[in-house]
Amino acid sequence: MENEQLSEYQKELIRDTWQIVNQDQIHHGTVLFTRLFELEPALVFLFQYNSAHFSSVQECLGSSEFTEHIRKVMTVIDAAVQSLDSLPSLEEYLTGLGRKHRATGVKLESFNTVGESLLYALESGLGDMFTSDTRDAWSRLYATVVSAMSQGWWRDPQGQ
Ligand code: HEM
Repeated sequence: MENEQLSEYQKELIRDTWQIVNQDQIHHGTVLFTRLFELEPALVFLFQYNSAHFSSVQECLGSSEFTEHIRKVMTVIDAAVQSLDSLPSLEEYLTGLGRKHRATGVKLESFNTVGESLLYALESGLGDMFTSDTRDAWSRLYATVVSAMSQGWWRDPQGQ
């Protein structure tokens, strides 16, 4: 898991901006997933709790189980931000997380839309602080996380 493309300046931009967004994880995470479901509405059907899927995006966004998923996503992003100097330490966890997501039926391509939606949520939350340098830094971090998760789509369960 390479993060050599992240400069110290980029790490600083990520840390400074995440500190703001992380203060209200559920709000910003809801903006992210609202955008995601606008771009790929069918993704809402992958969230099934007690074997039932939601009949609408609103129902999904309003459920406590889905709110927990938002918290889980934000916790993973937080872990990545806390580990900017040691991202390889997260690789095994992220590969396993990718494998779990493959099992839910989500396509790897949809994680491009998740990335777009993350940038959208950051921009909405940060306003003028979301400069093009900040966007580039976050894009790189997200690409690193997804690259580790993507190994869960093609590695077998023994990690070969
Ligand atoms: C296309 C977008 C996504 C879909 C459709 C999706 C779907 C799911 C589903 C159905 C579950 C199992 C139910 C649950 O725990 O709520 C799950 C679990 C989880 N998701 Fe996602 N997810 C998506 C994106 C993400 C992203 C971007 C992250 C973090 C970077 C993430 C982190 C997690 C975590 C940490 C779990 C719990 C895994 C465990 O039980 O060990 N998800 N996801």
